[in-house]
Amino acid sequence: MTGRFDLRLLYSREDIAAVVRALAKRIAADYAGKDLLVVGVLKGAVIFLADLIRELTIPVEIDFIGLSSYGDGVTSCGEVEVTAFPAAPIEGRHVLVVEDIVDTGLCLDALLKFLAARSPASVRVCALMVKPARHRVGVEIAYAGFAIPDKFVVGYGLDFAQRYRHLPQIYTLEEAPVEGQLASND
Ligand code: PRP
Ligand code: MN
Ligand code: MG
Repeated sequence: MTGRFDLRLLYSREDIAAVVRALAKRIAADYAGKDLLVVGVLKGAVIFLADLIRELTIPVEIDFIGLSSYGDGVTSCGEVEVTAFPAAPIEGRHVLVVEDIVDTGLCLDALLKFLAARSPASVRVCALMVKPARHRVGVEIAYAGFAIPDKFVVGYGLDFAQRYRHLPQIYTLEEAPVEGQLASND
């Protein structure tokens, strides 16, 4: 994406909070009495994870893994790099992967392989947003929040070239109308 762009509100604070609460309720019911390790995928999932675990009514341990597939653009390059490894032991644990968004699914696919190689008791995925039109690999998402259209989204942890993560709501990035086209030969 080049040129100027505008942000258009997609999900408000209230929309997000309602979905986070509903996901947390299901997760708390499913993992009651179990040893749960929540693994957030850096950096995008940080805000979602922080809100999600505060809505859980069960004790959890948290850790993080750094994965990157997009670089600074808006289209996935399809190559996934591990940029930070989780410190917590995985073997024998119930692991819940927390993602802000599943787009092509390539990041998640790589992460699930990374985890499976470490013999967890179980692995499930919780994603705030999924983009079904873009999925390129089949990944099962046990806890999915919003199914979104094929638009680039920012805010609530999601970035465009590392910007906008701090915004408390979720926006689509829209191409801004080009100004001054009629006067371009002056
Ligand atoms: C984004 C997003 C997911 C992943 C989804 O992360 O946060 O982790 O891409 O894309 P995929 O389904 O096509 O693999 P990104 O690589 O932009 O890193 P970031 O979380 O640090 O922004
Ligand atoms: Mn990410
Ligand atoms: Mg990103």
